Amino acid sequence: MEHLDRVWLLLLCSLNSVVCQLHVEGHVNEEVVLPCVYTEGDSSSNVFWRDKDNLFVLDIIGGVEQTQTQNERFRGRVSSFPAEYHKGNFSITMKDLTMEDSGPYECHIPDDFQRDITLTVNAPRVVPTPPPSPAGGAAVTHPSTWLCSLLLCLCSSAV
Ligand SMILES: *[C@@H]1O[C@H](CO)[C@@H](O)[C@H](O)[C@H]1NC(C)=O
Repeated sequence: MEHLDRVWLLLLCSLNSVVCQLHVEGHVNEEVVLPCVYTEGDSSSNVFWRDKDNLFVLDIIGGVEQTQTQNERFRGRVSSFPAEYHKGNFSITMKDLTMEDSGPYECHIPDDFQRDITLTVNAPRVVPTPPPSPAGGAAVTHPSTWLCSLLLCLCSSAV
């Protein structure tokens, strides 16, 4: 998935610890995958995703996403990958990120497994749109520094 290159995973997991701590970063308005893979799990596992306030992020009961019990903060924004359940992959995607989504999350399989993930949502990325170049790349091969400065100035004042 092309979104994966936008996700930086930092594994802060000591090999002998039961609870592994993962750190995921994203940007406002974008989406991230919060990973949760329990290799001994399967499609019949019950999985409970919670946030720092113990709000219902997503429950997966017997291979079915329980969207009706999702907290409204997460409804329509968080979904999982049912085709991956049989591999024990209960990762979720969270889209339309806001700063308020930052914080710890927990993927919990009762009596078996728990994974803690810390999400950091950064300010929106400013993606400069390249000016149209009618000469097919001529603008790139012959950059005009004053024009670039002007564009940068316009871009930063527009933010
Ligand atoms: C779990 O599924 C997601 C979505 O398909 C995928 O991006 C991720 O790589 C999978 N993780 C593993 C360990 O297979």
